Amino acid sequence: MRIKTEELKARVGALKGIGEIFLGPRDVVAVDIGSYSVKVVLLKQEGPALLLKAWGHLPVGAKADASPDERRLAVVNALRAFLVEKGIKVREAATSLSGNSVIVRYVKFPRLTKTELQSTLTTEAEPFIPFDINEVQLGFHILAEIVEEGQKKMETVLVAAKKDLVSLRLEILQGAGFQPAIIDVDSFALENVHEKLRDPKDGPAAVLYLNIGHMVSNLSIVESGVTRVVRDVFISGHTVSKTVAKAFQCEPARAEELKKLHGVIVDPAEKEKALAEGNREALGVSQAISQVARDLVGEVHRSVDFYLSQGPDRSIGRIVLSGGTARTKNLDRHLAGELKVPVSVLDPFSFVQGGQSVPEELRPAFGVAVGLALRRNRDWE
Ligand SMILES: Nc1ncnc2c1ncn2[C@@H]1O[C@H](COP(=O)(O)OP(=O)(O)OP(=O)(O)O)[C@@H](O)[C@H]1O
Ligand SMILES: [Mg+2]
Repeated sequence: MRIKTEELKARVGALKGIGEIFLGPRDVVAVDIGSYSVKVVLLKQEGPALLLKAWGHLPVGAKADASPDERRLAVVNALRAFLVEKGIKVREAATSLSGNSVIVRYVKFPRLTKTELQSTLTTEAEPFIPFDINEVQLGFHILAEIVEEGQKKMETVLVAAKKDLVSLRLEILQGAGFQPAIIDVDSFALENVHEKLRDPKDGPAAVLYLNIGHMVSNLSIVESGVTRVVRDVFISGHTVSKTVAKAFQCEPARAEELKKLHGVIVDPAEKEKALAEGNREALGVSQAISQVARDLVGEVHRSVDFYLSQGPDRSIGRIVLSGGTARTKNLDRHLAGELKVPVSVLDPFSFVQGGQSVPEELRPAFGVAVGLALRRNRDWE
């Protein structure tokens, strides 16, 4: 089914699902609209190879005091300029959402057909959604059919996103000349990347993804290719900058510079050296990052405990970091030490031909965008 842009706008209120597909066989441009940067990816499947046709990392969050309207305009203009510069003709776009206007719930419903569930979704979902049901758009995905206490049930992922947020995203995409084709959830987009990078060595152990952006960190746990836990926490790059700014009594822009310059010290010898040299800058930044990391670790523990309590024989085998904040020097080593699990930084282009043209340090921020670009191969039912 394909829906024209004008029709889509008119139907925003009536759409049944976030994951509803308005998708033809054509390519889609992935547009991850973050508060700090917009990431754009266009992939093309040629035989067995995935080719990178275009990519963009558009900084949009530089002006901290910009109004929401100014911000939106900055994103629209940056996207328009990018499309012209790269000569991109593809107009269908995939984007995703996260944060406190999006809720993901795992719910067991009595067994219904997909059509039956679609028609009763609002009523069935209402008890699980902490927002006014009339103010959200609902989507669902059936994970499995199970039998529980002799009853046939369906394990379902329910997604509710506030219509305000959905409309805002649609306006941005349409303002830039796109036809919005797919709206996903950040963590589910990352699941597509996981699928490509699935490591047989993981065995039954789950992989925890931590996509640490500017305003929000998306935490998800993927078991045998299926995302079982999704949570967003508001401890992220902005929190680090704020903590550094407070410690040094400096402007936010300077705090940004400092955190990027120093990162966190994990090596005892490096710490000794900084102490011996009286390098208060490096020590202060490291302390600020550790402080924020401690809170993040607390949230990771909460999610892991929840996941482990949901069934027997569960474990987390490794953690994968992505998002711009994953670039923080030594953050991976620091978190590995704190969480006692191997931690790596995602390169979402590692399976993409031509992905090496994206500077290595920018690649972790593209996890969601690459996942969205893969999305058309794995559509929600
Ligand atoms: N070298 C670096 N070291 C530490 N932090 C960095 C570095 N480069 C970028 N960052 C931080 O990464 C964050 C931006 O990451 P990202 O682009 O993933 O965010 P976003 O997707 O725009 O934000 P969100 O999704 O949270 O709205 C910013 O806080 C920025 O300061
Ligand atoms: Mg982001």
